[in-house]
Formats: sequence, structure tokens, C-alpha cells
Amino acid sequence: MMGLGRLLAATACVAQLASAFAPLTVRNLRLSSESDLALEPEGDFTIQESTDPTLLYPARTIKVPVDHFHNDTKYEPHTNDTFDLRYWFDATYYKKGGPVIVLAAGETSGVGRLQFLQKGIVYQLAKATGGVGVILEHRYYGKSLPTSDFSTKNLRFLTTDQALADTVYFAKNVKFAGLEHLDLTAPNTPYIAYGGSYAGAFVAFLRKLYPDVYWGAISSSGVTEAIYDYWQYYEAARIYGPKDCVTATQKLTHVVDNIILNKANAKYVQKLKDAFGLGNLTHTDDFANTISFGIAGLQSTNWDPALNDTSYGEYCNNVSSNALLYPETARLEKDVQELLTVGGYGKEVKTLTNQFLNYIGYVNVTSVQSCDGDQNACFTSYDSEFYKKDDLKQTWRLWLYQVCDQWGFLQTGSGVPHNQLPLISRAIDLNYTSIACREAFNINKPSDVESINKYGGFGISYPRLAIIDGEKDPWRAATPHAIGLKDRKSTISEPFILIKDGVHHWDENGVFPNETAPNFPPKPVEETQRAIKNFVQAWLQDFKKSGHGHGHGHGSAGVHDEQQVLGDL
Ligand SMILES: *[C@@H]1O[C@H](CO)[C@@H](O)[C@H](O)[C@H]1NC(C)=O
Ligand SMILES: *[C@@H]1O[C@H](CO)[C@@H](O)[C@H](O)[C@H]1NC(C)=O
Ligand SMILES: *[C@@H]1O[C@H](CO)[C@@H](O)[C@H](O)[C@H]1NC(C)=O
Ligand SMILES: *[C@@H]1O[C@H](CO)[C@@H](O)[C@H](O)[C@H]1NC(C)=O
Ligand SMILES: *[C@@H]1O[C@H](CO)[C@@H](O)[C@H](O)[C@H]1NC(C)=O
Ligand SMILES: *[C@@H]1O[C@H](CO)[C@@H](O)[C@H](O)[C@H]1NC(C)=O
Ligand SMILES: *[C@@H]1O[C@H](CO)[C@@H](O)[C@H](O)[C@H]1NC(C)=O
Ligand SMILES: *[C@@H]1O[C@H](CO)[C@@H](O)[C@H](O)[C@H]1NC(C)=O
Repeated sequence: MMGLGRLLAATACVAQLASAFAPLTVRNLRLSSESDLALEPEGDFTIQESTDPTLLYPARTIKVPVDHFHNDTKYEPHTNDTFDLRYWFDATYYKKGGPVIVLAAGETSGVGRLQFLQKGIVYQLAKATGGVGVILEHRYYGKSLPTSDFSTKNLRFLTTDQALADTVYFAKNVKFAGLEHLDLTAPNTPYIAYGGSYAGAFVAFLRKLYPDVYWGAISSSGVTEAIYDYWQYYEAARIYGPKDCVTATQKLTHVVDNIILNKANAKYVQKLKDAFGLGNLTHTDDFANTISFGIAGLQSTNWDPALNDTSYGEYCNNVSSNALLYPETARLEKDVQELLTVGGYGKEVKTLTNQFLNYIGYVNVTSVQSCDGDQNACFTSYDSEFYKKDDLKQTWRLWLYQVCDQWGFLQTGSGVPHNQLPLISRAIDLNYTSIACREAFNINKPSDVESINKYGGFGISYPRLAIIDGEKDPWRAATPHAIGLKDRKSTISEPFILIKDGVHHWDENGVFPNETAPNFPPKPVEETQRAIKNFVQAWLQDFKKSGHGHGHGHGSAGVHDEQQVLGDL
């Protein structure tokens, strides 16, 4: 869901959340994730000017209706307005009869996805198929703005259904600059959609709901099952993370919970907060939240060092180190030993003391230190004033609204089964993680996940719909590859590929041909990208054979349905 240029609130204290590839976190507020790669155009994404994709691909727009569903009361009052939906394209590799490859940009500015047109999956597919590559922005994100502000009333058009209809409208109506003499619209031209994360679920629904418009779709890390209490977000770290890091995180979190959630230990709560230098933070759940982000970095790891967020490894090295990493924390040794004892780990004081001190030091350098001012102002989720802002600068409202309205994915510690130790505090519960839903939008009930899951959820499948996931992805638990679901046979028509050691849509990015090296991209990524090229080429052969391109559109399966997709995947 979702590495996100981290959507930032306008306060200085959120600086610690500003790394480019981290779960969608508004302020210190744990939301869901998914704006992965949500690189804002203004962001700290440095790239050589000669290869700056924003200079290579001018932004284009197409006018689309704000309201595609005048029959649905959810969108009342209706409007006949249109807005400019932004896209970018590259026709360098286009050959007559070639497809249009549309990357659905999902919950972020499309600018953050332009690199995929240049050297990632869209480039690869356009080149392999003689296609036009497109990055299509999602309504409300970037500059595709249907309304003049982000007030709750005006956000009523921010639904997955409306955005899917935009994507269809685009395929039926687009005229590419310089190629106006060609009919590159669906269904005469085959349209193939790709999306990662939220956008991965999005293109899966696109294929299923509009099979006559989109000939095929590749859903990568597609979170097709919306889950309200998504405690499973941390399961990937628990199962696949470095064992010593996971164990230390579980034990120290357990100590914290045994103090803050056990009334008998109430008098130690202040001592615990003080040890972290967070003594002025009023709400204990805010405290639990503020110290919980280190382990969340897994999602933002990438095989390409240029895109990798190393914070996860840094956190793990900190918390599992037996050496004292921050000399200034030595003065807290006695306090920490007492807290460990009160917290139920008296027998492990010897091994846990330095780990606890390192944890404190880590939270200090990555968070506490950056707050100069009132700690509540920096770290609370209870700031009613903050949530009232709804002008166009408040882009944090967008994915948050989608989360609260439809998608859920609140990442709690409380949801973890009681026979298992969570990696974040159980004080981080649904009530806490949904504060923003109530405060920002006056949404007081659980997200309407059924409005999403009616499209198939875990079980979604369709001819020419590829399901690709990462073995170690925190979002895998919301995809058809979730552990415990029945494995599926992978076919050309319905490819079903789990990228070994992969994390979040690792097949989406690529490097320039001159930058590859042995095992770079890693073999599982390279093989997956090769498989994608192969099955998309097969899908396009089916398009030709089925008489499409001559006005006989239908959404049926092609001749390749029963063939195995590359045996080694
Ligand atoms: C509105 O119309 C669309 C077709 O344009 C249909 O798919 C949908 O079910 C209708 N919605 C309602 C609420 O009637
Ligand atoms: C939209 O246009 C149609 C056709 O002109 C009209 O009947 C309808 O009332 C308009 N709806 C709104 C909300 O303006
Ligand atoms: C906590 O609040 C007290 C009293 O307002 C203040 O003196 C102190 O500097 C604050 N500490 C931190 C770490 O913000
Ligand atoms: C990316 O960061 C992770 C976590 O810090 C680290 O384990 C991994 O080796 C890094 N990968 C690359 C390719 O730099
Ligand atoms: C501990 O974490 C800090 C902050 O992220 C980082 O700079 C440092 O390199 C880490 N230490 C180790 C041993 O990884
Ligand atoms: C946090 O960092 C500040 C600034 O370096 C330092 O003064 C303070 O002692 C540190 N606190 C802890 C608990 O390590
Ligand atoms: C839920 O959170 C609200 C703050 O948004 C708080 O007022 C209320 O007491 C909480 N309810 C429970 C059951 O914890
Ligand atoms: C590889 O090619 C790109 C694009 O043509 C260029 O910008 C980059 O400098 C080249 N990299 C190396 C390592 O030569």
C-alpha cells in the first residue's frame, strides 16, 4: 500500500517521517500505507538532469467527467462538470497495431511513477510490444483535481469506482499528441493496465469490471482484499525479518505493553515515557505510537539501492545490538533495568538492557530530537485543529479519506492474536488508528470494505489478469497470495507469480540497460519481468486472433488459457 513520499503534514515535527519510501503516515499517525513511491514532485528525489523524466515526458491532460454515476445517490449532489486528468506518454517504441500500456499511478502524484515509463515495467512492455507507454494519474492526486478543495463534501467523488471509470473513459477517448491520425482507443487498440499496491487492486478490478475496454491487466502487490483491522501488516516482518531484530522488538514491545496496559503498573508509565525523553506526551497511546515506526520500514526496501530505504536495517541493527550504541543513554541503565523487571523480563535484564537503551537512542535520533517545542503538538493524533484544514495543500486527506471511507487497512497491534507477541504496541488499536477518520471526515463507522471486496477480494481471478506479489511484502496478507490461501496454478491467461524474497511490487522498477549486472536486477525480479513480457505478448496474439482491432470486442479468454506460464516461476 502502499512507500509514499510520506505525505507530510505542514508541521516541522513530522520531519522524521519524510523518507521517500515509507508507509503512508500522516503526521505521526499510523494510517495504512500504500502511497508507496508517493514521491511528490517537489520531493527530495534527486536524479541527474539529463535523465530527469519530468523533462522527457511533458504532462498532458484529458477532460473527464467528475461524476460518472448520476444513478448513485452516494454522489449527490451530482455534477456535469469535467476536470483535467493528467497523463504522460512515450510513443518511442510504437509500431502500427501495438497496444497501449497504462500504468495506473494510484494514490500519489503521477510524477513519482514517471521513472517506470523510462526504465521500469512500462518501458519494458512498450519496447517489447511496440506499444505506447502511459502513466495515468488518479483523480484527486497530483494535479488531477476535480474539486476546488478537499472538504469532506467535495471528496465524495474520490472513490475507486469513479477513478476506474476515469481510466475507462481515458482508454475510450484519448488522442495522443502527434498520433491524432491513429485510432489508439479501446477496444480497437488493445489496452493493458499495470498497477502496484492500491493501484494493483485497482487494475484487477478494472479488468474484471471493464473487460471489453482493458484487454489485460497486471496486478502487482494488488491489495484486492480490503481489511479493516490490518494487524497482519507486520506479519511479513515477523516471519521474514532478521530473527534477533524481531525477537528484540517483540520483547521490548511486550515490556512497554506490560507497563502501559496493566493498571497495576500505572506508576511506571511516566518513568517509561521519561526514559524515551517523551515525558511531556500526554496520551499513552500517542507514546506507544511514537516509538513504533522502526519496524515499519520493510515495505520500503527495494532491490535497487537508488530506491532502497535503509531505515529498516538501521532500526534492526540498533535494536538487536548488544553493544551500547548511544553513550548518552548509559545514564538510564538503572531505570531501564527497573522497567524491564516491572515489564516482566526481570530474568533477561542482562541481554535486554543495552537493546532497550539502543531502542531509546534510536527513537531519540529518528524522532524525539526533531521536535523542538511542545511534544503533544509534534506527536499527538488527537489534534482536532489540524484535521480541520481542507484546502488543496492538505494532500494527506486523500488516501486517508479512501482508507476511512472504503479501504480500511488500519495497522494495529491490538489485532494480533493473543498467542503471539506483536511488533507494535497493543495500545495501537482500532479506536486509536481511526481518530483521524472521525476528526477529519466525521466518519464514525468502520470503512465500507464490502464496497471493495464485492469485486472478488482474495478470490479475484479473471482471464488475462496477472497476480504478482512479493514473498516478504507487508501487503501480501491482503492479496491472493496471502499465506494460508489455496495456491493457484499459474497459466498464460492467469499468471500467478510470487517473487522470491521480493517485497512491494518489486517488478515495477527497472534500471537502464547499461546498468544491469549479474544478479542485478535480482534473478527473481528479472524472471518475473521476463514472464510479464512473455504473457503480455501472448495476450496480444490472442487479441489479433480474436479479430479484435476490427470491431468485434468481447472479453472472453484467449487460446493460451491452459498453457503453463514459464515453468520456473
Ligand atoms: C449505475 O449505472 C452503472 C452502469 O452505468 C451500473 O453498473 C451501476 O450498477 C448503477 N448503479 C446504481 C447504484 O444503480
Ligand atoms: C446534467 O446534464 C443533463 C443533460 O443536459 C441534465 O439533464 C442534468 O440535469 C444535468 N445534471 C446536473 C447535476 O447538472
Ligand atoms: C516538558 O515540559 C516542561 C514544562 O513545560 C518543560 O520545561 C520541558 O522542557 C519539557 N520537556 C521536553 C523534553 O519537551
Ligand atoms: C536495502 O535496505 C535494507 C534494509 O536496510 C538492506 O537490508 C538491504 O541490503 C538494502 N538493499 C540494497 C540493495 O541496498
Ligand atoms: C542506528 O540507527 C541510526 C538512525 O537510523 C543509524 O544512523 C545508525 O547507522 C544505526 N546504527 C547501526 C549500528 O546500524
Ligand atoms: C537525545 O538526544 C539529545 C540531543 O543529542 C540528547 O541531549 C539527549 O540526551 C538524548 N536523549 C536520550 C534519552 O538519549
Ligand atoms: C476512542 O477514542 C476517542 C478519541 O477519539 C475517545 O474519546 C474514546 O474514549 C475512545 N473510546 C474507547 C472505547 O477507548
Ligand atoms: C546509462 O544510461 C543512462 C541513460 O541513457 C545514462 O543516463 C547513464 O548515465 C548511463 N549509466 C552508466 C553507468 O553509464
